Parts: sequence; structure tokens; C-alpha cells
Amino acid sequence: MSQLLLNRSEFGDPANAGNLLSNEEANQLLEEWVPNERLRLHMKQVAAVMKAWAIQREGADEATARKWEQAGLLHDADWEKYPNDHCRVIIEELERRKVDAELICCIASHGPRYFGVEPVSVMDKMIYVFDELSGFIHASALIRPTRYEGMDVKSVMKKLKTPSFAAQVNRDDITDALARIDTPLEEIIQFIIDHQKAVE
Ligand SMILES: [Fe+2]
Repeated sequence: MSQLLLNRSEFGDPANAGNLLSNEEANQLLEEWVPNERLRLHMKQVAAVMKAWAIQREGADEATARKWEQAGLLHDADWEKYPNDHCRVIIEELERRKVDAELICCIASHGPRYFGVEPVSVMDKMIYVFDELSGFIHASALIRPTRYEGMDVKSVMKKLKTPSFAAQVNRDDITDALARIDTPLEEIIQFIIDHQKAVE
């Protein structure tokens, strides 16, 4: 059984609805908590994809899109320094800072098998869908001389079926996440390629 189980189903305080960290506060947290540049890039990529999806596919207003973005940006904030307490530490930090309950819940549901929290909202489901796939697609870009340039969905699909490629990416989690939404995998892969390629 996972050591990371949160053993909770409610997060944050509904009274804090709409409260987000300022961009400065979020960036400062990243600088302090995540020295690993690769992990920081992963979080920025998930943030960009979450924001784009909120606007383009969910018709989100600016405040809601920022919430999706910040959930992506902070979802692994404690992974490097507190691997045995991921994501309990960042959740408690955001609760202490009175951050929006839906954002905290979204972070808590980005790995149901590990944290024991089922994704409920669309935002919860999409962070679960994007997390592993975003990392996988970035790993695929890194081995191409032209990186994201000219990358196509077919080649990513082929790599997904090759267990030895990016073996740490759990294919079962991807399948489980996709089963919870109505969008096909190919469309999700194209969306990720389009929206994370420019993130540095
Ligand atoms: Fe992640």
C-alpha cells in the first residue's frame, strides 16, 4: 500500500474560493522548493497545458484559467524535498496560505493510486490526464534532434507501446486517466505537443 495515501477527502476551506498565490509568490515557492530545473520545467509545462485547456476547451474565464494554471504549476512542488510526504506537504502549505479549495483538491487528485483521492471535477481529471503524458512527450522530444519541431502523434503512440522507452512513466495510470474523460488519447497528445513546446 502506498505510503503517500492522504487519508483525507476534503481539502482547503470553501471560504477561500478564488484565492490564489500571486505570480511572484508562486515563482518564489518554486525557486525555494524545487532546485531541480527539469522538475521545474515539468511543472511549468503542465501549467501551460492546463491553462490552455481551461480556456480553449472549457471556456474558462481568466480567474478560472489562472486556477488551472496554478494547480499545474504547483502540483509537484514538494516532490523533490519531501518525496516521502508528496503531496501532503504542498497541500498543507497551500491550506495555511488560504488558497482556493478547488485548486488544493486538484493537486490532491493528480495521482489517485498513490494519494487515494479520486479526481472529481474536470480540473481534477485533466491534471491526472496531463501529468504523466506531458512528461512522456517531453522525454520523447528530448531524444529527437529537432525536439518538438515536426513531432507527430503517431510516433508518441508508438513509444507508448514500447515499454522500455521512458519506463518510469506508468502506462496504466495513463489508461486509467483517459478512461475518465471523453477525449481520445490522440487528441490529448496533439494538444500537449502544441501547448508545451514553447515552455522553457
Ligand atoms: Fe507531475
